[in-house]
Amino acid sequence: MIRRFTLPSFIISFTVIVITSCVDHNLGSPFIVECDSNTTVSYTNDVAPIILAKCAGCHNSSSGLPDWTVLGNLQESGQEVQRRITLPLTDPGKMPRTGSITQAEREAIYCWIEQGAPNN
Ligand code: HEC
Repeated sequence: MIRRFTLPSFIISFTVIVITSCVDHNLGSPFIVECDSNTTVSYTNDVAPIILAKCAGCHNSSSGLPDWTVLGNLQESGQEVQRRITLPLTDPGKMPRTGSITQAEREAIYCWIEQGAPNN
């Protein structure tokens, strides 16, 4: 009697544990961004709209946080911006703090900074 119930429940528990640890692992990994040196990212067309939609709700001229709608602020804090947007989702310092950005949006900001954060 006991054996008939123990094996299936062991298999179920094992499967659940494996799946859960895979999911946790994904959330806990930093994001890898690869920049294509043949593609120039535009501040005006690519980066500024993402900042407006995904960062400026908190990072604006009245919040007391760094205002990322000001180009010079982004240029000065480039490395920290790159670091924050690639932190694992489980990291309390990840940006955006709430909401999310797509990998394409992450790449645009990250690679524009990699290209020297030009006013283009
Ligand atoms: C929901 C509000 C919110 C959103 C949206 C948000 N941030 Fe932040 N951000 C914060 C807060 C609060 C802090 C200060 C606490 C901290 O350093 O984690 C911060 C800090 C930062 C810092 C560190 C600033 C410093 O002085 O060193 C960077 C860089 C940053 N955010 C980048 C971004 C970027 C890029 C986006 C958009 C992709 C973004 N944040 C979206 C709330 C937000």
